[in-house]
Amino acid sequence: MSELSVKHLLGIKYLNEKDIQLIFETADHFKEVINRSIKKVPSLRDITIANIFFENSTRTKLSFELAEKRLSADVLNFSASQSSVKKGETLIDTVNNILSMKVDMVVMRHPNPGAGIFLSKHVNASIVNAGDGAHEHPTQALLDSYSIREKLGDVSGKNVVIVGDILHSRVALSNIFALKLQGANVKVCGPKTLIPKYIKSLGVDVETNLEKALQWCDVANMLRIQNERMDISYFPTTREYTQQFGVNKATLDKLDKEIVIMHPGPINRGVEITSDVADSKQSIILHQVENGVAIRMAVIYLLASKIK
Ligand code: CP
Repeated sequence: MSELSVKHLLGIKYLNEKDIQLIFETADHFKEVINRSIKKVPSLRDITIANIFFENSTRTKLSFELAEKRLSADVLNFSASQSSVKKGETLIDTVNNILSMKVDMVVMRHPNPGAGIFLSKHVNASIVNAGDGAHEHPTQALLDSYSIREKLGDVSGKNVVIVGDILHSRVALSNIFALKLQGANVKVCGPKTLIPKYIKSLGVDVETNLEKALQWCDVANMLRIQNERMDISYFPTTREYTQQFGVNKATLDKLDKEIVIMHPGPINRGVEITSDVADSKQSIILHQVENGVAIRMAVIYLLASKIK
């Protein structure tokens, strides 16, 4: 039987192409399940999962919780803002206390890059990274590639541009790793100040002209400016950013082809994309969210099969 090469999902960096294909094939099965009238399977009846979120989330938190419930796992939800972390408890103590209640898997979002990697070395449970600072967001990248595969038939050979705040984006880094593993061509586009110096070492080209980037691509993945990770200004004004790097209907109408528009959410409407683009038929934003549940069911199911 096929299994993942890893015990934890800490980042796309630790996966190989076979892992991604296995996750997608498993997600295909679960997508079919969650579209039935009975959307639940008993696969993880004996597994308990804790979702511990030290940063805000709408999509990822709800999507993991729903995926776990669809698999019949027992689910604990932990929000740092209402916990004893506020009284000074360390991350390892917090998680070990949760694990002593016989928890098998921890899904964690944390503001510090590498928090999941650190935890995986100190506690005895399978760890799933639900976003660690500006480092990785592996399930987002998996659902993004899965959505491209669903829309365009394959990821290999497709031209994908990631637009916006690349410097502070875990979505960008995980997407770059995932897309390159699957043979896509990847460019990034944004203000030079928001593009990391090391980006070319990842096999990614830089295009600072949005129109040229969009003319080249099959898919544009639009990112939010991560103001919460900035302590200085990286561009003069939001208005100027939008004029240079925002996508609106007129920008798309100028292209000689129809490209696919993606966004991981949350969207700042009118900044990186206008509403008429976000809600257009070219946009697959809500399909990404839908696919997130099947992808997370696949990841949890495959990791759980390694701890049984
Ligand atoms: N895409 C994403 O991670 O969204 P949330 O921050 O709402 O989970």
